[in-house]
Amino acid sequence: MKIAIINGPNLNLVGTREPGVYGSETFDAYFQKLRKEYENIDFDYFQSNVEGELVNEIQSADKRADGIILNAGAYTHTSIAIGDAIAAIKTPVIEVHISNVYSREDFRKFSHIAAKCAGTISGFGLKSYLLAVESLIKNI
Ligand code: DQA
Repeated sequence: MKIAIINGPNLNLVGTREPGVYGSETFDAYFQKLRKEYENIDFDYFQSNVEGELVNEIQSADKRADGIILNAGAYTHTSIAIGDAIAAIKTPVIEVHISNVYSREDFRKFSHIAAKCAGTISGFGLKSYLLAVESLIKNI
């Protein structure tokens, strides 16, 4: 099984960015653990701070992945283009958030992508990604 993990803006700073909200482990360190835990899964990882690059990557991952795990960061709440990209492809997309977006500011409660995704996982720290992998493996 091939899973593409796509992270949006500022997620390259997880580990040092607002540790009270996002924790103090870097995404790279967490990703290494995830790869070890699921040795039979072929993961690829892409991060960008640029909206159009995320759209390009969603389109390209559709051609090679069985599932996409997407944390669109703040673009979740603003990007019609990312929502349209998800609607345009066949590969299932799981929306993930490290923090619980529903316990934060009101503007984080709206997602342009949620309705286009197979489901949303929010608020479990970096383990949100593991739960997304499980949902794809078990075809939930
Ligand atoms: C986030 C939540 C978003 O509201 C925020 O803009 C992020 C990270 C999360 O993983 O909790 O950058 O997607």
